[in-house]
Amino acid sequence: MNIGIIGGTGGMGKGFAIRWCKNHNVLIGSRNSEKASDAAKTYNQIAESYGKINGTIVGDNNVATAQKSDVLILSIPYENIDSICSQVLPQIKDECIVISPIVPMEKTKIGFEFIPIKYGKPSSFDLVKKYMRSNKLVSAFHVISEKKLLDPSMILNYDVFVCGDDKDAIETVNGLVSQIKDLRPLYLGSGELSYMAEIATPLLLNVMIRNKLKNPGFKIC
Ligand SMILES: NC(=O)c1ccc[n+]([C@@H]2O[C@H](COP(=O)([O-])OP(=O)(O)OC[C@H]3O[C@@H](n4cnc5c(N)ncnc54)[C@H](OP(=O)(O)O)[C@@H]3O)[C@@H](O)[C@H]2O)c1
Repeated sequence: MNIGIIGGTGGMGKGFAIRWCKNHNVLIGSRNSEKASDAAKTYNQIAESYGKINGTIVGDNNVATAQKSDVLILSIPYENIDSICSQVLPQIKDECIVISPIVPMEKTKIGFEFIPIKYGKPSSFDLVKKYMRSNKLVSAFHVISEKKLLDPSMILNYDVFVCGDDKDAIETVNGLVSQIKDLRPLYLGSGELSYMAEIATPLLLNVMIRNKLKNPGFKIC
């Protein structure tokens, strides 16, 4: 499977690439193709230092990455959804599955706050959906910290909330979640409920800071 990562040069993108290249071809997307190629080389070296990889990691610009992807993860800030999605989503294959891990959050003097509630703005899912031609948009990975994702030796004994409207797309994303050791996908509901998964991140971060916890996550039991 070709997994493209828009904004793949960021912290989350690096973690996804290092994890998924074990079994898939990962395409690092960036606004700058040279930056993407440099990142891909570095990620390859890191991934190989953890053992044999069966896929590849290469870099390119965001549009070329989107065109070649079977699954495309939008690893970009909430503020840039309009500028990036309007450019890349018209270019994807009809059957391409799009994943949004995007958290609409800002740090204020009272802590981390959820932008859709504070400013009456749409959830990340709803904003991305405007640019989709299919219903193969799935929301996932909001509550996974990049620090742990980046290091394959770290145990990620957490649950990932998954939201979406297409059964097959959800199945595929569940599979990708499960391929990251110890992560468990939990279906939360339709895309309309994605805001609940997205708000879990500021909740987690505020609790983490106030209680001095290290890399907390959710585990439903
Ligand atoms: N970090 C975490 O622990 C974490 C956890 C859960 C979810 N998330 C979510 O995952 C997403 C990615 O997180 P991240 O920490 O990797 O983000 P990031 O490092 O801030 O940004 C990721 C990439 O987005 C691109 N980008 C940055 N500013 C941009 C702009 N003005 N216009 C267009 N593209 C821009 C950059 O790629 P190029 O410069 O190469 O184009 C950058 O490398 C975010 O939505 C975040 O909320 C993060």
